[in-house]
Amino acid sequence: MTTRTSMAAAAAALLALAACLALPSGAAANKITINWKPNTNYSDWVTQHSPFYKDDWLVFYYTAGQADVVQVDETGYNKCDASNPIYNYSKGRSFAFQLNETKTYYFICSYGYCFGGMRLAIKTEKLPPPSPPPSASHKSAAVAAAFARSHAAVLYAAVAVLAALLRMV
Ligand SMILES: *[C@@H]1O[C@H](CO)[C@@H](O)[C@H](O)[C@H]1NC(C)=O
Ligand SMILES: *[C@@H]1O[C@H](CO)[C@@H](O)[C@H](O)[C@H]1NC(C)=O
Repeated sequence: MTTRTSMAAAAAALLALAACLALPSGAAANKITINWKPNTNYSDWVTQHSPFYKDDWLVFYYTAGQADVVQVDETGYNKCDASNPIYNYSKGRSFAFQLNETKTYYFICSYGYCFGGMRLAIKTEKLPPPSPPPSASHKSAAVAAAFARSHAAVLYAAVAVLAALLRMV
């Protein structure tokens, strides 16, 4: 291998490395916590926490004996009917559920509070945003841009050094 070809190989390797560093980090699944309690109308909560994305986690915190979490179908949701549960949970103090499909999930409390609004219809969307919580997206975008700029600077410096070295060979 001549010095020139090994230099070129080194340049290619550096370029690949810089390209990897400049890539934005993958989107992580969000963890959305919900204080699941009687006499609460969760209709506004759903609006405030939308959009939900596939793979997000929904973590219910409740007091055992005061509330349960029953996953039902659309009919069960509309009628506050827990007699055909897809899944139900009432043990402990919390219940974490991953929204691992793109669809509408329905949850109700079977203790009668559903009629007062203790129910959730959560529609998950396909593509997660590149940066997690919407509230922090501006900040994350700025950080990502700064990160990309700093790596671009490193890349340009490396290329300039290599170009200078290649001229010397
Ligand atoms: C929850 O599931 C258990 C066992 O599968 C069942 O006995 C119970 O009736 C269910 N409760 C509700 C509210 O669906
Ligand atoms: C819950 O709140 C929504 C929006 O404010 C309202 O439309 C709905 O009627 C309420 N539900 C109950 C059961 O009070």
